[in-house]
Amino acid sequence: MHEVLNGRATLRTVPSAGARHALETYLLVNRVHGLEPGLYRYLAIGHKLVPVVLGSNLARDVAEAAADQVFVAQSAATFIWCADIKRMAWRYGERGYRYVHLDAGHACQNLYLAAAAVGCGVCAVAAFDDDRLNALLGLDGENQFAVYLAALGKKRTIWG
Ligand SMILES: Cc1cc2nc3c(=O)[nH]c(=O)nc-3n(C[C@H](O)[C@H](O)[C@H](O)COP(=O)(O)O)c2cc1C
Repeated sequence: MHEVLNGRATLRTVPSAGARHALETYLLVNRVHGLEPGLYRYLAIGHKLVPVVLGSNLARDVAEAAADQVFVAQSAATFIWCADIKRMAWRYGERGYRYVHLDAGHACQNLYLAAAAVGCGVCAVAAFDDDRLNALLGLDGENQFAVYLAALGKKRTIWG
């Protein structure tokens, strides 16, 4: 969610260095009622999800690229934050690489908090093969690259 300020900047629920907001959020939807499994992209300005790739083996491939962590494909959904580094680096140069990782930490922490509020749990994931994951997402690995993942799902109750 966000608010556009004077047509120039967006106010969001996460901070971002210089308000650059260089992260794009993808969702690997695995088991969400009403949504076909597949990769979706979140459009922050329109607060919308748009399908990127549906009905393929992508979830399995992403889990393999993420050090074979199968829960990446078994979650309800796995968030994938990717950097569009030019949005940050035109202003901050090399230091922009540090900032997109800090920004991703904020985004992921907010997911932990929002998930807790609706009875879900999250597991952050940073163990992944950059080249393999970027290729699966169609990112070139230089201008755009995956930064951080987080698997999300309902918490088990004591009754199962
Ligand atoms: C930067 C970062 C990277 C992480 N990468 C992984 C990962 O690749 N796989 C995983 O199972 N957990 C990963 N975690 C989750 C931590 O292992 C987990 O937060 C920690 O063990 C504490 O458990 P809790 O969050 O359930 O309290 C990561 C956490 C952070 C902050």
